[in-house]
Amino acid sequence: MKIPKTIGIIGGTGRMGQWFKAFFEKKGYEVLVSGRHTALTNQALGQKSDVVIVSVPISITVDVIKEVGAYVRKEALFMDVTSLKKAPVEAMLKFSQAEVIGTHPLFGPGVKDLKGQTIVLCPARGDKWLPWVKEVFKEAHLEVTTPEEHDKIMAVIQALTHFILLSFGLTLKRLPFSSETLIRYATPTFRPLWERLLKMASQNAEIYANMQFDNVFYKEEVLPVFLKEIEALKEIVFKQDKEGFLGAFGKIK
Ligand SMILES: NC(=O)c1ccc[n+]([C@@H]2O[C@H](COP(=O)([O-])OP(=O)(O)OC[C@H]3O[C@@H](n4cnc5c(N)ncnc54)[C@H](OP(=O)(O)O)[C@@H]3O)[C@@H](O)[C@H]2O)c1
Repeated sequence: MKIPKTIGIIGGTGRMGQWFKAFFEKKGYEVLVSGRHTALTNQALGQKSDVVIVSVPISITVDVIKEVGAYVRKEALFMDVTSLKKAPVEAMLKFSQAEVIGTHPLFGPGVKDLKGQTIVLCPARGDKWLPWVKEVFKEAHLEVTTPEEHDKIMAVIQALTHFILLSFGLTLKRLPFSSETLIRYATPTFRPLWERLLKMASQNAEIYANMQFDNVFYKEEVLPVFLKEIEALKEIVFKQDKEGFLGAFGKIK
C-alpha cells in the first residue's frame, strides 16, 4: 500500500482545511498548508506533497486546481473536499497527470472525529492510492460512487433540504410570532426542524449558495419537481380537496 510522507492542503488555513490538518497530524503525517497569505505557495505545496488536497471555497476550486495541477507530481494523489464533485474531478483529471480521488466529507468542521460520519469517494484515475485513502478514513462510513451520481444525490440530500429549511425560516420570519412563543408551543415535529434551521443560519452562507447555484441536476430536475408539488398541494388545500389530500398523503406512505 502506498503511504504518503507529506500531505499538502491548499486552503489549509480554512475551516475544513484546519480540521483535516489536525486529523492527519494526529495520525503522524507531516502536513503542509497553503492559503493566499502563507509563505508556502499553492504551487510549491503541490510540488512537495505526496497527497494534495484542495479545500478552498467552491466558487474558486476549479481555478485553484487549474493553477496547481501541473505542479502535482504524476505519482502523487490529487484530492479535493468540495461539496460538489463533477467540476472539481473533471478539472483534476484535465489539469494534472496525478492519480485523482474526488472526496466529499458529509460533515462540517465541528465534528470531533470520524466516528458515525460519512465520506464520499469518487476515484477517477489510478488505483494505487485508494487502499491508503480507505485505511486512513476507516473510522468513517465510506461511499464510493461517480461524481455525477454524487452530485445527483446531493441535489436531494443537501440542496433540496437546505431550500426547504431556508424557505421555512423565511416564512417564520414574516409571521407575527416570536421565537420564544414558537418554542413554548413546539411539537416533536417542529422542534428538530427549528433546531436545524438555527444551525444552518449560524453557518457560512457562501457554501449554501454554491450548492443551490452550481448543481445542474438540482436546478433542472429536482427544484422544478418540488415547486410543482408545492403548487399542487396548495391547490388541494385551497379547494379543500379531501380526496386529493388523502391521495397525496397515501403516496408518501
Ligand atoms: N464547511 C463545511 O461544512 C464543509 C463540509 C464539507 C465540505 N466542505 C468543502 O470544503 C471546502 C472549504 O470549505 P470551508 O468551509 O473550509 O471554507 P473556508 O473556511 O472559507 O476555507 C477556505 C480557505 O481557502 C483559502 N483560500 C481562498 N482562496 C485561496 C486561494 N486562491 N489559494 C489558496 N487558498 C485559498 C482561504 O484561506 P486564506 O484566507 O488563508 O487564503 C480559506 O480559509 C469547500 O469546497 C466546501 O464545499 C465544507
